[in-house]
Amino acid sequence: MSDDLKRQAAERAVEDVTSGMKIGIGTGSTAEHFVRALGQKVRDGLDVVGVPTSEKTHALALKEGISLATLDEIPHLDLTIDGADEINPDLVLIKGGGGALLREKIVAAASGEMIVIADGTKVVEALGQFPLPIEVNKFGLGATMIALKSVLDQNDLQGELELRGGADHPFVTDGGHYIVDAHLGKIPYPATLADDLNAIPGVVEHGLFIGLATKAYIAAADGVKTLTKVSGEN
Ligand code: 5RP
Repeated sequence: MSDDLKRQAAERAVEDVTSGMKIGIGTGSTAEHFVRALGQKVRDGLDVVGVPTSEKTHALALKEGISLATLDEIPHLDLTIDGADEINPDLVLIKGGGGALLREKIVAAASGEMIVIADGTKVVEALGQFPLPIEVNKFGLGATMIALKSVLDQNDLQGELELRGGADHPFVTDGGHYIVDAHLGKIPYPATLADDLNAIPGVVEHGLFIGLATKAYIAAADGVKTLTKVSGEN
């Protein structure tokens, strides 16, 4: 059911893609539906160039026959389409459940527009039920963990910090970094937390996407709805 809804959101988003566009292509199971739908449109004659946000998406997009380029070759994109782990009413997102948050954020920030595609379970009033992924440099992991803990304390946030994959087999991102998942429960002030995380030298990037998404297509049993920001902020 959820997978079918993800497909519906992806198929809605593909309708917004027109010939000549330069497209950022997200990562995850919802984005994979988008890649397949885009591949079909390309085979039907749509002329686009895509910049994938992960090695996994790159492989699938190639298989689908989508023309690809790097962000170095095309540094400005028209539109990025990507999934999310959580979406709040201001279209602030938690991303990185699939571990691709760094490239996803770089690509989204280089795009004129970012459309989020998701099933209705991803829409929340307050972010934080989903553990916040924080991409960290391998060097100095212990020191970075201590700095992360003190940022959580500073923000009155309690919760565990967990190295994704565990100490014996840590998950390694496409960029060669680790991910620490912060189990916070609630993130009342995402912008403040984002600033504080950015100030830690060992933090490469975090999964709070603020001011990047321009709209979201949310699929539920009663159809696909368009979500736009409730407030003009972020
Ligand atoms: C990958 C992501 C994904 O967009 C996010 O995890 C949602 O994944 P899915 O579409 O499989 O539910 O941020 O880094």
